[in-house]
Amino acid sequence: MRIGVLTGGGDCPGLNAVLRAIVRKGVPAYGHEFVGFRDGWRGVLEADVRPLGIPDVRGLLPRGGTVLGSSRTNPFAMNSATDGPSDGTARIRQNLDELGVDALVAIGGEDTLGVAARLHEAGVRVVGVPKTIDNDLGGTDYTIGFDTAVAIATEAIDRLHTTAESHHRVLIVEVMGRHAGWIALHAGLAGGANGILIPERPFSVGRVQEFVESRFRDRYASIIVVSEGATPEGGAEVLQSGRKDAFGHARLGGVGDWLASRIEERSGREARTTVLGHVQRGGTPTARDRWLATRFGLHAIDAVQAGEWGMMTALRGTDILMVPLGEATKEIKTVDPALYAEAEVFFG
Ligand code: F6P
Repeated sequence: MRIGVLTGGGDCPGLNAVLRAIVRKGVPAYGHEFVGFRDGWRGVLEADVRPLGIPDVRGLLPRGGTVLGSSRTNPFAMNSATDGPSDGTARIRQNLDELGVDALVAIGGEDTLGVAARLHEAGVRVVGVPKTIDNDLGGTDYTIGFDTAVAIATEAIDRLHTTAESHHRVLIVEVMGRHAGWIALHAGLAGGANGILIPERPFSVGRVQEFVESRFRDRYASIIVVSEGATPEGGAEVLQSGRKDAFGHARLGGVGDWLASRIEERSGREARTTVLGHVQRGGTPTARDRWLATRFGLHAIDAVQAGEWGMMTALRGTDILMVPLGEATKEIKTVDPALYAEAEVFFG
């Protein structure tokens, strides 16, 4: 079989490790041939391919980013000329036929795999692999990239603790995660934050102020971790710009600075913000992400061989299972209130 592989959406550490595992098993075990589509669905729509054989995946295990490139191209995006949705299915089919590609492995988050689910309904043979630092995909306990993002954010919080204490400052750490607070929750808990603000639970500035004051009473500086999608009670998400991507997502960011100003106004204490941004998506994957990426890659190629079209690899406990793409992408996975309640023990 000739298989096309693509990585779409925001990149994350561990993508290259999936490519390596797919090719390293698919070639010798099943005699598959691979091509890489460049930049996610853009490459499929434009028949832009590169070789993806065993020599091309040598040395990829620890490498961050994706050698295939990525984009947020949406084959079903709204078409501004017609003011209606476009449908790239026919073009994709034609390109796959012309390139002799029998099946696709799509590595992505809710958007990339949402497209994969629609193409599967239209008869395209596709298997998915879940990745995103946000960990917000349904059907799987964890996605590739999340563990590395949490490790990076935790290290940053550890470092910020010492400088916050020296200067008796409030330091606010803004992390990514879009509409799910997984990164904030895990890194905040691991880093000993004295307040964690997530999109699932609108926050009261007054309560955050109390957390801060209580830390200073103990002569200990305050670190508040805020997820980019967190909102004040009765307020809205803070946006970096009103522009939306091809999947309709606005660019989030700025809630950390917003909160720092409110805290300074109320307390007169100096409050500063560190926005971790794309640092959370860069560099080498953790051992855990390499382990997960490798196992997902191995199981994805087994699923292709078995013809399990429209399915996605998923981690449940320590087992890898296949779940329907439609189920995994129908809604985002958000933080369970019970998990948040565990973290609240350490607030203030
Ligand atoms: O989905 C991953 C993610 O890093 C989100 O946490 C963040 O909101 C978004 O992508 C940023 O996207 P971009 O890299 O396109 O600015």
